[in-house]
Amino acid sequence: MGLYSKKSERIDTENAFKIGPQIRSIEEQGKKVIKCNLGEPDFPVPGFIKEEVKRQLDLDNTHYCDPQGIPSLRKAIAKQLSETRRIQATPDRIVVFPGAKPPIGLCQQTYCDPGDEVIYPSPGFPIYESFIKYVDARPFPIHLREEKNFTLSGEDIQSLLTKKTKIIFLNFPSNPTGGVASPEQLQDISEVIRRRCTEDVRIFSDEVYENILFDGAKHHSIISCPGMEKVTILVSGASKSFSWTGGRIGWALFPTLEEAEVFRNLNINYFSCIPPYNQEGARLALESPLSQNAIRSMVNTFQERRGIVIDGLNRIKGIRCQKPKGAFYVFPNISEVCENLGIMEAFQSLPPDLQKKTSPSTLFQMFLLFEYQVATMDRKSFGRIGAESFHYLRLSFATDTDSLKEGLRRLSIASQDKKGFGQFFKKREHLYLEY
Ligand SMILES: Cc1ncc(COP(=O)(O)O)c(C=O)c1O
Repeated sequence: MGLYSKKSERIDTENAFKIGPQIRSIEEQGKKVIKCNLGEPDFPVPGFIKEEVKRQLDLDNTHYCDPQGIPSLRKAIAKQLSETRRIQATPDRIVVFPGAKPPIGLCQQTYCDPGDEVIYPSPGFPIYESFIKYVDARPFPIHLREEKNFTLSGEDIQSLLTKKTKIIFLNFPSNPTGGVASPEQLQDISEVIRRRCTEDVRIFSDEVYENILFDGAKHHSIISCPGMEKVTILVSGASKSFSWTGGRIGWALFPTLEEAEVFRNLNINYFSCIPPYNQEGARLALESPLSQNAIRSMVNTFQERRGIVIDGLNRIKGIRCQKPKGAFYVFPNISEVCENLGIMEAFQSLPPDLQKKTSPSTLFQMFLLFEYQVATMDRKSFGRIGAESFHYLRLSFATDTDSLKEGLRRLSIASQDKKGFGQFFKKREHLYLEY
């Protein structure tokens, strides 16, 4: 009998957090790392939200509170969801969590028995796939194709549906591709779900980037399509919209009161409650007319940076990159760079056990980090199953413009540095993300 349960060996991770120690070890050598790996807005929390949190602390609002989320915040969420999604959201079907992440695993635990099937986008947020293995469900990735603008259709979902399908994850705007769904596309997906799924199948609609949309686009949700409110779990939160990843406030609207009660009880078991002073801050963020300007200013900055990054990337020989419509990531295709630098060949030359740990895009990611001090994420960090033949990186533009320009300059040189890659590879160090 070993120390750890079999189950605990099956959980995966989010590499964007894991790469931190590598970055720090390089910085300790006195080198400046350009951090395009981060999945969080690089702005302070808007002042009026901070003031409210401070005020709540001064009021000693620091004790246990309603494990489902304080009623005033749930009321504000219900109002915002009802207005923006054209639904009848009620506070009693809302549960507040410490971020938008916990409902991902908690939903899989709650709805899936071993052998049940989960459909999710790949590339996609890695925690979807991570938990599928943990709960002993079966993963069915929808491989999003660059030729189809990384989007997905009803047909893509239909081809994976079986009687065992239990949860379908959707994420628009998407991490890592920045793809969004049009109302027609959502309509198409919802028709398949209405036609082919029983009411026990749950759509997990991860809308945490709902406010980060470019070119004046509006957010659309599958929950607004006919018949979808009774099967959709709509998840969002304060992390991205209010640049408040450390506040750990997320929420989910469940189809039924009964389900909300199940998750309320899970909150009691896991967290007891979520810090009430931060919940009051999130309540004000949703209610205040000041939020619109704060979000607009952040999104305008992201949009300017998107222009710089897309232009810069597409000027680099061997890199091709689509313009994201939302979130703050770009997902360039680096296949040609991998060919030109001899990365494909180098990868093929590795023994099978090492090949399993790395990939061509991981080798380029590591070369960029250790030789050029640019931190990015590789394709495998967004779903491992079936990722071998896709060669992409994710770069976040949630970092200041000067750093982004410097990052692009370094990336451009690295992309032509065949000799440098050869030397890096020869050292046989840092060929994958070490833990
Ligand atoms: C698609 C997606 N869902 C959920 C989360 C988790 O957000 P939170 O920080 O609120 O837990 C993230 C964070 O990067 C994300 O990209």
